[in-house]
Amino acid sequence: MTVIRDLIDNNRNWAKGKTEVDPDFFARLVRQQSPSYLWIGCSDSRVPANEIVGLDPGELFVHRNVANLAPPQDANYLSVLQYAVEMLKVRDILVVGHYGCGGVIAATEHTHHGLIDHWLTPIRLLATEHQAELDLLPEGKARHDRLCELNVIRQVRNVAMNPFLLAAWEQGRDLTVHGWCYSIENGLVSDLGVSISNRTEAKDMFGDR
Ligand code: CO
Repeated sequence: MTVIRDLIDNNRNWAKGKTEVDPDFFARLVRQQSPSYLWIGCSDSRVPANEIVGLDPGELFVHRNVANLAPPQDANYLSVLQYAVEMLKVRDILVVGHYGCGGVIAATEHTHHGLIDHWLTPIRLLATEHQAELDLLPEGKARHDRLCELNVIRQVRNVAMNPFLLAAWEQGRDLTVHGWCYSIENGLVSDLGVSISNRTEAKDMFGDR
């Protein structure tokens, strides 16, 4: 088992390794961050954003919360989104869920988990909305996995319908929102095929406005 002292040692080794390969690595990061991507993912410790897509510090702007939600009234997520879109001018926003998500499973259980039940309300509502589709699947894993995907698609919609995004597209910005689902079992990401690059695509996909 690792202890805190090990983590500090790991850190020293990691920083040394980085500068050995690229002496200017940290000096460059101090000057500026210019990531092309915003990652909106789950807090789950088995889904480490940078590692999965092979990106270094400075290449991925990250927002993580339980069950990778993009709630239209959440100031934390909205602050990250605005900064990523308006200041960092990212080109791609990746909404990344994962199969076997504990948050998604908790939202389907009829037990009390505490504060998290409030946070997970959007997923409970989503499950109700798609109950007919979910009921066709075998109970358990298949239903949870589909709900994980439906949750990603709903969060892509939330991001794509966000006023910051609509304003950026109005300015002609090259900016795409993607929906992915990651498998803890094999380490692979699946593209759910719901990428949105402009207002028309958002409207066609989700029919909101
Ligand atoms: Co999760």
